[in-house]
Amino acid sequence: MISGNIRVGVIGDPIGHSLSPRIHNRWLDDNDINTVYEAILVKPEDLESFLRAMPEEGFIGVNVTIPHKESVFKLVDEYQGLFTGQIGAINTIIVRNGKLIGANTDDYGFLENLKGKLPVENRRALVIGAGGAARAICLSLLHGGYEVTLINRTRERAENLAKYLNNINIRVLGWEEIENAMSNISLLVNTTSLGMKGQPKLEISLAKLPQSAVVTDIVYNPVNTEFLKQAREHGNLTVDGLGMLLYQAQMAFGLWFGTHPNVTPELRQYVAEALK
Ligand code: ATR
Repeated sequence: MISGNIRVGVIGDPIGHSLSPRIHNRWLDDNDINTVYEAILVKPEDLESFLRAMPEEGFIGVNVTIPHKESVFKLVDEYQGLFTGQIGAINTIIVRNGKLIGANTDDYGFLENLKGKLPVENRRALVIGAGGAARAICLSLLHGGYEVTLINRTRERAENLAKYLNNINIRVLGWEEIENAMSNISLLVNTTSLGMKGQPKLEISLAKLPQSAVVTDIVYNPVNTEFLKQAREHGNLTVDGLGMLLYQAQMAFGLWFGTHPNVTPELRQYVAEALK
């Protein structure tokens, strides 16, 4: 049993709606770790002083959410993980020997969520969106031997991301080419915020999408997005975004406590209940 005055939590602005406390507090209980995972409001102007004080405040680490992921990248002492430097954003800080180690667990979360479901034969993916989440997702797909087609409303942003990733297996097409770009893919990923509660739907035709393709959405509120419903009606296997949230948390917990907690159907249910 780990006890004492260790602190752990998530920092962001706003922070009230974060699901991370619900997930991590369940795992802290399961593992008899005697602390509470906190939701901490940190304003951008207070970010650096908060980070510098973490070791003496007893933190073993924190998760980082909007709007701090890129700023924290520039403020940590070291990086952990193969892709963190390339992703350019931090979602997990580990305090080790008074130093702040930055990690990004989104690529793990994305892949682990698709584990056993990813097509291995025709490795061609269409990724929609070119924001922060798309970067980690494209990197993990390219590393997994995928050819990636990237399409974003603002084409220039997709071009910049492709240039940054500097890989011959990524190409950019225009938004108007979405439908045609689907004809030979095995994986379709929505990384945009479209379909999220309060946002417009992702409205695209899936007519040309092979039924054998897997369709996934990073949106998890609602868990069952209109986009995923549409894909299932079309005959495709779908994977929702809640799993990615749980698995990125699983790796963060592992980095802090050295033990990988379980992602169970009960945990999924418990977290999904908070979205109702
Ligand atoms: P995150 O870091 O969570 O990925 P982000 O960086 O703001 O968030 O990216 C949001 C993504 O959703 C972007 O790809 C954005 O497209 P633009 O680059 O053109 O802004 C996409 N997005 C948001 N609203 C959209 C809309 N109404 N139509 C199409 N794409 C949209």
